[in-house]
Amino acid sequence: MKIITAEHYGFCYGVRRAVEMAEKCKNTNGPVATLGPIIHNPQVVERLQKQGVGVASSLAEFSTGTVVIRSHGVGPSVYQEAESKGLSVVDATCPHVQKAQQAAARFFQEGRQVIIIGEQRHPEVQSILEWAQRQAKVVENKEEAEALPEYEKIGVVSQTTFATDLFAELVAIVSAKSADTVVDRTICAATEQRQQAALQLAAQAQIIIVVGGKNSANTNRLAELCARAGTKVYHIETAEELQPAWFIDVDTAGVTAGASTPDWIIEEVCRKMQDFNEMLAQTAEKIERGMVIKGTVVGIRRDEVFVDIGYKAEGVIPLKELAYPAPAQASDVVKDGEEIDVYVLNADNEDGQVLLSKRRADEQVAWSRLEEALEQKSPLQVTVTAEVKGGLSVAVFGIRGFIPASHIDLRFVGNLGEYIGQTIQVVPIEIERGKKRIVLSRKMILESERKQKEEEIYGSIEPNQVVHGVVRRLTDFGAFVDVGGVDGLIHISDLSWHHVKSPQEVVQVGDEVDVLVLKVDAAAKRISLSLKQTQRDPWMDAVEELQEGMLVKGVVTKLMPFGAFVKIHGDIEGLVHISEMAEQRINKPEEVVSIGQEVVVKVIRVEKEQKRIGLSISQAQQETEREEFSSFIDTQAEPAQATIGERLAAEEEK
Ligand code: F3S
Repeated sequence: MKIITAEHYGFCYGVRRAVEMAEKCKNTNGPVATLGPIIHNPQVVERLQKQGVGVASSLAEFSTGTVVIRSHGVGPSVYQEAESKGLSVVDATCPHVQKAQQAAARFFQEGRQVIIIGEQRHPEVQSILEWAQRQAKVVENKEEAEALPEYEKIGVVSQTTFATDLFAELVAIVSAKSADTVVDRTICAATEQRQQAALQLAAQAQIIIVVGGKNSANTNRLAELCARAGTKVYHIETAEELQPAWFIDVDTAGVTAGASTPDWIIEEVCRKMQDFNEMLAQTAEKIERGMVIKGTVVGIRRDEVFVDIGYKAEGVIPLKELAYPAPAQASDVVKDGEEIDVYVLNADNEDGQVLLSKRRADEQVAWSRLEEALEQKSPLQVTVTAEVKGGLSVAVFGIRGFIPASHIDLRFVGNLGEYIGQTIQVVPIEIERGKKRIVLSRKMILESERKQKEEEIYGSIEPNQVVHGVVRRLTDFGAFVDVGGVDGLIHISDLSWHHVKSPQEVVQVGDEVDVLVLKVDAAAKRISLSLKQTQRDPWMDAVEELQEGMLVKGVVTKLMPFGAFVKIHGDIEGLVHISEMAEQRINKPEEVVSIGQEVVVKVIRVEKEQKRIGLSISQAQQETEREEFSSFIDTQAEPAQATIGERLAAEEEK
């Protein structure tokens, strides 16, 4: 971009003179102030104030000191008042303005109707009005000029900064209002030169930057002229207002400034424009497919996002290029004004836009993070997006990854679909950027968790503890119970105090149980548990009722070479040793009893500790016989003199 300045711009002779005169007053004794801002430029006024030259709105604010009359000038009454107050006056009225004031005073004295062509409210026009005893008419446009009545004699003066072309038009209208019209063309040459230079600039440049106070009439006039010439105009007060977007696709930019704009502000503006120029040139050179650059979101539609990338053309991101998986709407992913990284898909598409992808820019960052995760074996959060052949498809850092079915859980998973939509933890097991291959495992995370739990469990669990668990699995030889992440085994013999043929008779998968820890073997990773030992032993209850010497009925359940087992008192079994089976010696139990036979046995021994009960058939028989004999003796009672031998003989005779 070429930056050109107008041939005439910035401080005019009168303004420069006024500012310099005010600056010279900074060392004057006593208070110093300008009557009104020295020029229509807040930055210059602020600078003077810092140097000790203030701003007063009227002479009433002065009791002593120095008053600086600015370039716009004042009416004669101000000089008189300042003199009567004994104030020092530094008159910085522009000589061109003085000329207009004097012309107005002269026309008034000649008895002419003074017509001032200018802006009614402008301080310079107000000062000229004063010199015409406030009897002048002010016209600013054709309507006002045409509305004037006819006069005998007219004297026309101009605001020094008025537009020359409009002045000529208005003079023509005003002249028609009187046969005796005198015109003093008090337009300042500097203004005309600046306006002409601005028009020449407008003819060469695509945009014009007009620098100057927003309340400066001559600066506004410059902006107006350039705009009327059909050039894009930006009116700024300082360089800070400049925006890079104004210069995109601009080959030539022009700079001009109003009469109240100091050189240092204009220089700053030109410098900043040059900076923008270099930045835009670099961006324009650099933009090519495959680049990742920064941009700012400047517009969001449902299915596309517009991004300012500091390039001549705006960037656009289609919905499917925003993220993986594609969002329902663009506003789900980005916010207006957000700075994002974008990947250049196409430097200039058919619509003159740069096609961008946020998804691919994110991918580049994601690959680096994935490679780092693989190296450090660190876990990642992923969202399951779909069930695919052989496993699950997931979104990880905005990229598609894959979990093989065998890596989804510790156990086989029948229905992979149940994971869709879930966020799960995984570790990368294979990352190949070139092949876009991301293979992940959830199983490894679970294995690691299990191992950690195992260590915790084996570090805390001890024999004789009662722990809570859940039955996970049943086998022929027992039930596996999860006791907090580790499975322990209840052997079938430890399920119940009763004889059990199958674990299902006692527990079912999913049952919650309290179990006693029998043994912990951390090395072999085995925990032996008992369910029955957390319950009361029915044998002990039953045996409470048994006493040595009791005769009880029972059933022979088993014959062994050394004796016979007899079930008595519910489920309690006792042993009749072969020596206790008959009074005479026998070779084997079958000689006396058979399985299923009901017998009367005598309890001869109860060993609770060993859970052993000794029974005797022979002693029971002797006991029974003795009782029977006793009862017989009682029923056959004889005189007291009969001996036992007599009684038995009598019995035999019977
Ligand atoms: Fe004077 Fe002309 Fe400037 S009138 S103040 S030299 S624009």
